[in-house]
Amino acid sequence: MSDLRETVLEAIRMIVNRHPRLAPRIEALAAQAQGRSAQDLADFIEWKRYQGMDLAEIFTSIYAEGRWGRDEAEPEGYFSGTGTRTPEIAGAYVAALRSFAAEFGHPPSVVDLGCGDFHIGAQIRPLFGAYTACDIVPGLIERNRQRFGVLGVDFRCLDITTDDLPHADVILVRQVLQHLSNRDIAGFVRRVAGVCRHLVVTEHWPALDGFTPNAVKPSGSDIRLAQGSGVVLTAPPFNLAVQGERRLCAVPEVGGVIVTTAYRL
Ligand SMILES: C[S@@+](CC[C@H](N)C(=O)[O-])C[C@H]1O[C@@H](n2cnc3c(N)ncnc32)[C@H](O)[C@@H]1O
Repeated sequence: MSDLRETVLEAIRMIVNRHPRLAPRIEALAAQAQGRSAQDLADFIEWKRYQGMDLAEIFTSIYAEGRWGRDEAEPEGYFSGTGTRTPEIAGAYVAALRSFAAEFGHPPSVVDLGCGDFHIGAQIRPLFGAYTACDIVPGLIERNRQRFGVLGVDFRCLDITTDDLPHADVILVRQVLQHLSNRDIAGFVRRVAGVCRHLVVTEHWPALDGFTPNAVKPSGSDIRLAQGSGVVLTAPPFNLAVQGERRLCAVPEVGGVIVTTAYRL
Protein backbone atom coordinates (compact mmCIF):
# COMPACT_ATOMS: atom_id res chain seq x y z
CA MET A 1 0.00 0.00 0.00
CA SER A 2 2.77 2.41 0.90
CA ASP A 3 4.56 1.45 -2.38
CA LEU A 4 1.43 2.37 -4.28
CA ARG A 5 1.20 5.67 -2.39
CA GLU A 6 4.83 6.45 -3.23
CA THR A 7 4.22 5.59 -6.90
CA VAL A 8 1.14 7.82 -7.06
CA LEU A 9 2.99 10.66 -5.35
CA GLU A 10 5.92 10.26 -7.73
CA ALA A 11 3.56 10.36 -10.73
CA ILE A 12 1.87 13.49 -9.36
CA ARG A 13 5.24 15.08 -8.71
CA MET A 14 6.39 14.35 -12.30
CA ILE A 15 3.23 15.86 -13.80
CA VAL A 16 3.43 18.90 -11.54
CA ASN A 17 7.14 19.37 -12.36
CA ARG A 18 6.41 19.35 -16.07
CA HIS A 19 3.25 21.42 -15.89
CA PRO A 20 3.48 23.70 -12.83
CA ARG A 21 0.37 25.60 -13.90
CA LEU A 22 -1.71 22.40 -13.56
CA ALA A 23 -0.47 21.86 -10.01
CA PRO A 24 -3.43 23.37 -8.13
CA ARG A 25 -5.96 21.34 -10.17
CA ILE A 26 -4.02 18.08 -9.94
CA GLU A 27 -3.42 18.49 -6.23
CA ALA A 28 -7.09 19.25 -5.62
CA LEU A 29 -8.19 16.15 -7.55
CA ALA A 30 -5.68 13.93 -5.78
CA ALA A 31 -6.74 15.28 -2.41
CA GLN A 32 -10.41 14.78 -3.22
CA ALA A 33 -9.69 11.14 -4.13
CA GLN A 34 -8.06 10.64 -0.75
CA GLY A 35 -10.73 12.48 1.20
CA ARG A 36 -8.25 15.17 2.27
CA SER A 37 -8.19 18.89 1.77
CA ALA A 38 -6.26 20.13 -1.24
CA GLN A 39 -4.01 22.15 1.05
CA ASP A 40 -3.12 19.11 3.17
CA LEU A 41 -1.95 17.36 0.06
CA ALA A 42 -0.15 20.37 -1.38
CA ASP A 43 1.72 20.79 1.92
CA PHE A 44 2.51 17.08 1.98
CA ILE A 45 3.86 17.16 -1.57
CA GLU A 46 6.03 20.20 -0.78
CA TRP A 47 7.23 18.60 2.41
CA LYS A 48 8.10 15.36 0.56
CA ARG A 49 9.73 17.27 -2.30
CA TYR A 50 12.08 19.21 -0.02
CA GLN A 51 12.44 16.64 2.75
CA GLY A 52 16.01 16.58 4.09
CA MET A 53 17.05 19.73 2.18
CA ASP A 54 18.21 22.92 3.86
CA LEU A 55 16.80 26.28 2.75
CA ALA A 56 19.64 26.98 0.32
CA GLU A 57 19.04 23.65 -1.40
CA ILE A 58 15.27 24.20 -1.46
CA PHE A 59 15.45 27.62 -3.16
CA THR A 60 18.25 26.52 -5.52
CA SER A 61 16.03 23.64 -6.59
CA ILE A 62 12.97 25.93 -6.98
CA TYR A 63 14.93 28.08 -9.46
CA ALA A 64 16.45 25.06 -11.25
CA GLU A 65 12.99 23.53 -11.73
CA GLY A 66 11.42 26.85 -12.75
CA ARG A 67 8.71 26.54 -10.11
CA TRP A 68 7.91 30.25 -10.25
CA GLY A 69 8.03 30.22 -14.06
CA ARG A 70 10.77 30.74 -16.61
CA ASP A 71 12.18 33.53 -18.72
CA GLU A 72 13.47 32.00 -21.92
CA ALA A 73 15.54 35.13 -22.52
CA GLU A 74 17.49 34.41 -19.33
CA PRO A 75 20.58 32.29 -20.07
CA GLU A 76 20.89 31.21 -16.43
CA GLY A 77 17.15 30.57 -16.14
CA TYR A 78 16.62 32.56 -12.92
CA PHE A 79 13.06 33.84 -12.62
CA SER A 80 11.68 35.09 -9.30
CA GLY A 81 7.98 34.98 -10.23
CA THR A 82 5.26 37.03 -11.84
CA GLY A 83 5.10 39.34 -8.80
CA THR A 84 8.50 40.55 -9.95
CA ARG A 85 7.75 40.97 -13.65
CA THR A 86 4.12 42.08 -13.98
CA PRO A 87 4.40 45.79 -14.84
CA GLU A 88 1.37 46.92 -12.75
CA ILE A 89 2.67 45.11 -9.66
CA ALA A 90 6.30 46.16 -10.04
CA GLY A 91 5.29 49.71 -11.05
CA ALA A 92 3.11 50.26 -7.97
CA TYR A 93 5.92 49.01 -5.71
CA VAL A 94 8.57 51.21 -7.34
CA ALA A 95 6.29 54.28 -7.11
CA ALA A 96 5.50 53.57 -3.45
CA LEU A 97 9.18 53.18 -2.58
CA ARG A 98 10.06 56.38 -4.47
CA SER A 99 7.70 58.36 -2.19
CA PHE A 100 8.89 56.47 0.89
CA ALA A 101 12.60 57.04 0.19
CA ALA A 102 11.99 60.72 -0.55
CA GLU A 103 10.72 61.22 3.03
CA PHE A 104 14.23 60.70 4.42
CA GLY A 105 15.64 63.92 3.02
CA HIS A 106 18.72 61.97 1.87
CA PRO A 107 18.96 58.66 -0.01
CA PRO A 108 18.64 56.11 2.82
CA SER A 109 20.86 53.03 3.01
CA VAL A 110 19.02 49.81 2.28
CA VAL A 111 19.33 46.05 2.66
CA ASP A 112 17.21 44.07 0.21
CA LEU A 113 16.67 40.60 1.73
CA GLY A 114 15.75 37.77 -0.64
CA CYS A 115 16.59 40.02 -3.59
CA GLY A 116 15.90 37.24 -6.14
CA ASP A 117 16.58 37.93 -9.83
CA PHE A 118 16.95 41.68 -9.03
CA HIS A 119 14.44 42.66 -11.70
CA ILE A 120 12.76 44.87 -9.09
CA GLY A 121 16.01 45.76 -7.31
CA ALA A 122 17.51 47.29 -10.45
CA GLN A 123 14.50 49.64 -10.69
CA ILE A 124 14.62 50.86 -7.10
CA ARG A 125 18.41 51.00 -6.77
CA PRO A 126 18.61 54.75 -7.74
CA LEU A 127 16.28 55.67 -4.84
CA PHE A 128 18.80 54.59 -2.20
CA GLY A 129 22.32 55.31 -0.99
CA ALA A 130 24.38 52.25 0.01
CA TYR A 131 22.56 49.18 -1.35
CA THR A 132 23.17 45.65 -0.04
CA ALA A 133 21.24 42.82 -1.69
CA CYS A 134 21.15 39.34 -0.19
CA ASP A 135 19.80 35.96 -1.23
CA ILE A 136 20.28 32.41 -0.07
CA VAL A 137 20.96 30.98 -3.56
CA PRO A 138 24.73 31.18 -4.28
CA GLY A 139 24.44 30.86 -8.09
CA LEU A 140 21.87 33.66 -8.18
CA ILE A 141 24.09 36.00 -6.14
CA GLU A 142 27.02 35.26 -8.47
CA ARG A 143 24.82 35.95 -11.53
CA ASN A 144 23.58 39.20 -9.93
CA ARG A 145 27.17 40.31 -9.22
CA GLN A 146 28.08 39.77 -12.87
CA ARG A 147 24.96 41.39 -14.26
CA PHE A 148 24.27 44.22 -11.81
CA GLY A 149 27.68 44.88 -10.25
CA VAL A 150 27.84 48.05 -12.33
CA LEU A 151 24.96 49.48 -10.26
CA GLY A 152 27.18 49.68 -7.17
CA VAL A 153 25.32 47.01 -5.21
CA ASP A 154 26.96 44.84 -2.55
CA PHE A 155 25.56 41.36 -3.28
CA ARG A 156 25.83 38.85 -0.44
CA CYS A 157 24.80 35.24 0.01
CA LEU A 158 23.13 34.74 3.37
CA ASP A 159 20.22 33.03 5.10
CA ILE A 160 17.92 35.60 6.66
CA THR A 161 16.59 33.04 9.13
CA THR A 162 19.95 32.08 10.68
CA ASP A 163 22.64 34.63 9.74
CA ASP A 164 23.32 38.07 11.22
CA LEU A 165 21.71 40.73 9.03
CA PRO A 166 23.56 43.81 7.72
CA HIS A 167 22.52 47.16 9.29
CA ALA A 168 20.78 49.87 7.22
CA ASP A 169 18.21 52.67 7.48
CA VAL A 170 15.70 50.47 5.64
CA ILE A 171 15.29 46.73 5.23
CA LEU A 172 13.19 45.45 2.33
CA VAL A 173 11.84 41.93 2.29
CA ARG A 174 9.59 41.44 -0.69
CA GLN A 175 7.60 38.23 -1.31
CA VAL A 176 10.13 36.16 0.61
CA LEU A 177 8.53 35.38 3.99
CA GLN A 178 5.41 34.06 2.25
CA HIS A 179 7.50 31.06 1.10
CA LEU A 180 8.87 30.23 4.56
CA SER A 181 7.57 28.10 7.42
CA ASN A 182 6.58 29.85 10.63
CA ARG A 183 9.70 28.47 12.31
CA ASP A 184 11.91 30.02 9.64
CA ILE A 185 10.03 33.35 9.75
CA ALA A 186 10.47 33.41 13.54
CA GLY A 187 14.25 33.10 12.96
CA PHE A 188 14.12 36.17 10.71
CA VAL A 189 12.01 38.16 13.20
CA ARG A 190 14.56 37.47 15.97
CA ARG A 191 17.35 38.80 13.74
CA VAL A 192 15.72 41.88 12.27
CA ALA A 193 15.10 43.71 15.55
CA GLY A 194 17.92 46.19 16.13
CA VAL A 195 19.38 46.24 12.60
CA CYS A 196 17.11 48.91 11.05
CA ARG A 197 14.56 51.61 11.94
CA HIS A 198 12.30 50.84 8.98
CA LEU A 199 11.22 47.40 7.79
CA VAL A 200 9.27 47.28 4.52
CA VAL A 201 7.52 43.95 4.01
CA THR A 202 5.65 42.85 0.87
CA GLU A 203 3.38 39.83 1.11
CA HIS A 204 0.72 38.15 -1.04
CA TRP A 205 -2.46 38.06 1.08
CA PRO A 206 -5.85 36.52 0.27
CA ALA A 207 -7.56 39.87 1.05
CA LEU A 208 -6.75 43.18 2.70
CA ASP A 209 -8.24 42.02 6.01
CA GLY A 210 -10.47 39.39 7.61
CA PHE A 211 -8.17 36.39 7.02
CA THR A 212 -6.41 34.05 9.44
CA PRO A 213 -2.75 35.08 9.51
CA ASN A 214 0.31 32.85 9.57
CA ALA A 215 -1.14 29.42 8.74
CA VAL A 216 1.31 26.57 9.23
CA LYS A 217 3.14 25.44 6.07
CA PRO A 218 6.51 23.97 5.13
CA SER A 219 9.17 26.20 3.54
CA GLY A 220 8.99 25.88 -0.24
CA SER A 221 7.67 27.34 -3.47
CA ASP A 222 4.04 27.58 -2.31
CA ILE A 223 2.48 30.36 -0.27
CA ARG A 224 -0.41 30.43 2.21
CA LEU A 225 -2.98 31.78 -0.25
CA ALA A 226 -4.72 28.43 -0.87
CA GLN A 227 -5.22 28.17 2.91
CA GLY A 228 -6.89 31.59 2.90
CA SER A 229 -3.93 32.90 4.87
CA GLY A 230 -0.96 35.24 4.58
CA VAL A 231 2.02 36.35 6.65
CA VAL A 232 1.41 39.16 9.16
CA LEU A 233 4.48 39.81 11.30
CA THR A 234 2.64 41.72 14.02
CA ALA A 235 0.22 38.80 14.61
CA PRO A 236 0.89 35.59 16.60
CA PRO A 237 3.09 33.59 16.67
CA PHE A 238 5.61 36.33 15.63
CA ASN A 239 4.20 39.37 17.47
CA LEU A 240 6.80 41.72 15.96
CA ALA A 241 6.91 44.79 18.22
CA VAL A 242 6.51 47.96 16.13
CA GLN A 243 6.24 51.65 16.93
CA GLY A 244 4.12 52.30 13.89
CA GLU A 245 2.98 50.83 10.61
CA ARG A 246 1.44 52.06 7.38
CA ARG A 247 0.43 50.59 4.07
CA LEU A 248 2.57 51.77 1.16
CA CYS A 249 0.68 49.99 -1.62
CA ALA A 250 -1.73 47.17 -2.38
CA VAL A 251 -2.15 45.66 -5.86
CA PRO A 252 -4.65 42.93 -6.82
CA GLU A 253 -2.99 39.67 -7.93
CA VAL A 254 -4.26 36.11 -8.54
CA GLY A 255 -6.51 35.12 -5.66
CA GLY A 256 -5.72 38.13 -3.51
CA VAL A 257 -3.64 41.23 -3.16
CA ILE A 258 0.07 42.03 -2.90
CA VAL A 259 0.46 44.35 0.07
CA THR A 260 3.49 46.42 1.06
CA THR A 261 3.66 47.58 4.68
CA ALA A 262 6.26 49.86 6.25
CA TYR A 263 6.94 49.12 9.94
CA ARG A 264 8.80 51.52 12.20
CA LEU A 265 10.81 49.43 14.65
C1 LIG B 1 9.72 35.03 -4.79
S1 LIG B 1 11.40 35.50 -4.71
C2 LIG B 1 11.26 37.27 -4.50
C3 LIG B 1 12.46 38.00 -5.03
C4 LIG B 1 12.47 39.53 -4.86
N1 LIG B 1 12.37 39.93 -3.48
C5 LIG B 1 11.37 40.16 -5.66
O1 LIG B 1 10.36 40.58 -5.10
O2 LIG B 1 11.54 40.24 -6.86
C6 LIG B 1 11.91 34.99 -3.08
C7 LIG B 1 13.43 35.04 -2.90
O3 LIG B 1 13.75 34.86 -1.53
C8 LIG B 1 14.92 34.07 -1.44
N2 LIG B 1 14.96 33.46 -0.10
C9 LIG B 1 14.12 32.53 0.40
N3 LIG B 1 14.47 32.19 1.64
C10 LIG B 1 15.57 32.91 1.95
C11 LIG B 1 16.40 32.99 3.09
N4 LIG B 1 16.16 32.23 4.16
N5 LIG B 1 17.44 33.84 3.07
C12 LIG B 1 17.69 34.61 1.98
N6 LIG B 1 16.94 34.58 0.86
C13 LIG B 1 15.88 33.73 0.84
C14 LIG B 1 14.76 33.07 -2.57
O4 LIG B 1 15.97 32.47 -2.94
C15 LIG B 1 14.18 33.96 -3.67
O5 LIG B 1 15.19 34.52 -4.45
